[in-house]
Amino acid sequence: MGKPRIMDKLKITGGKELNGEVIISGAKNAALPILAGSILSSAPVTLNNIPQLNDVATMLTLLQSMGAEVIFDEKMDLRLNAKEIEKYFAPYDLVKTMRASILVLGPLLSRFGRAEVSLPGGCAIGARPVNLHVKGLRAMGAKISIKNGYIYATAKKLQGTNYRFDEVSVTGTENIMMAAVLAKGKTVITNAAMEPEVKDLAQFLKSMGANIEGEGTSQIVVDGVDRLRETNYRIMPDRIESGTYLIAAAITGGKILLKKTAPQYLKTVISKLQLSGANIKCGDDWISLDMHNKKLKAVDFETSPYPGFPTDMQAQFCALNSISSGSARMKETIFENRFQHVIELHRMGADIEIKGNIATSKGVRRLTAAPVMATDLRASAGLIIAALAAHGDTIIDRIYHIDRGYERIEEKLQQLGAHISRETS
Ligand code: UD1
Repeated sequence: MGKPRIMDKLKITGGKELNGEVIISGAKNAALPILAGSILSSAPVTLNNIPQLNDVATMLTLLQSMGAEVIFDEKMDLRLNAKEIEKYFAPYDLVKTMRASILVLGPLLSRFGRAEVSLPGGCAIGARPVNLHVKGLRAMGAKISIKNGYIYATAKKLQGTNYRFDEVSVTGTENIMMAAVLAKGKTVITNAAMEPEVKDLAQFLKSMGANIEGEGTSQIVVDGVDRLRETNYRIMPDRIESGTYLIAAAITGGKILLKKTAPQYLKTVISKLQLSGANIKCGDDWISLDMHNKKLKAVDFETSPYPGFPTDMQAQFCALNSISSGSARMKETIFENRFQHVIELHRMGADIEIKGNIATSKGVRRLTAAPVMATDLRASAGLIIAALAAHGDTIIDRIYHIDRGYERIEEKLQQLGAHISRETS
């Protein structure tokens, strides 16, 4: 972790087969809401399998700025104590670097009855408003005004309610679920996000004594409790990191074994990779992929909320399709501007046409190295995957995006045989 090194670049010499084992880290998108959810309790929380990422560091800085005590013990377990929260404030400087900071809104309001959280603002991949979070909290009785770029929220005591999301929102569902934990009475959330990370957050909250049912389905029911107790909880494995390494191995024609992962949450991605030609086997907590002597075939997909194909895997699969034989139609339904990696892939020789929210690839025989620029977290992963297969040395600029969400990525890829190094200026 540490400060993002803004000028760092990655140099990748493509064409090396990835072979070997990789241990999957804890899930970023579970760790962030769970850290935010920790402030619902005045009792200590211990978290295992926290990934060492810049987004996690940003969330910890935010929680510390509010008064939470945070320490990593010798086993790198995180001990968090939010007994003495004295500020209910998330400043623009932190929220603008990480939208998931909005996740403190529900917990602050639920436990302390007030919160001042900066609006996240624009984002490279789309508008990403938080109107549904605000609407849900208002339905629970919160008084909310938005001025000078901040959400000002107060509530004497949040009240349970029936709230239907107009659109499936992952962090929206998480915010309302956390708000409901200490609210008075029963909250029924419908059209809830079914993502495994929402379920992991619910299970964490339940381990502290929250009364939640239906997590992992589209209807979550929360019965408010007065207080939460101490807990020790292990964060789930990162399914997006898992999928990224599977695709990285596939594009290089390699053979890989992922350990400490969760195959049950990767079914859609695994079935698409099988259609690409990969030989995949799964056990309880491992996945193996063998691409030796197999020819990559282009595969159509459409992103959608879980259990559909994850938007967070779109850029990586797009890179894979770019050198697979045949043509693929890739439809992005979650974010309106999530094809920026395609423009960079063109610079590496890819033949991909974008029309609205559909990208159509025609597989080229090979990609060639070029200087490229990362625009967001998953786009960076897509470019790394393309570079691993490209002929020559690719330099990827603005890789601070990748450090937000992939733990020790160069080290893990090097262990698999990739020629990758970081250039620090
Ligand atoms: C989360 C994930 C992100 C993933 C995304 C979709 C975390 C920390 N981030 O982001 O990695 O790409 O889910 O799987 O878990 N929307 C509204 N109003 C709202 C909220 C959302 O219109 O109040 C729209 C968004 O603009 C988007 C769609 O709903 O088009 C889904 O967004 P959402 O699920 O909320 O994404 P995040 O929770 O921000």
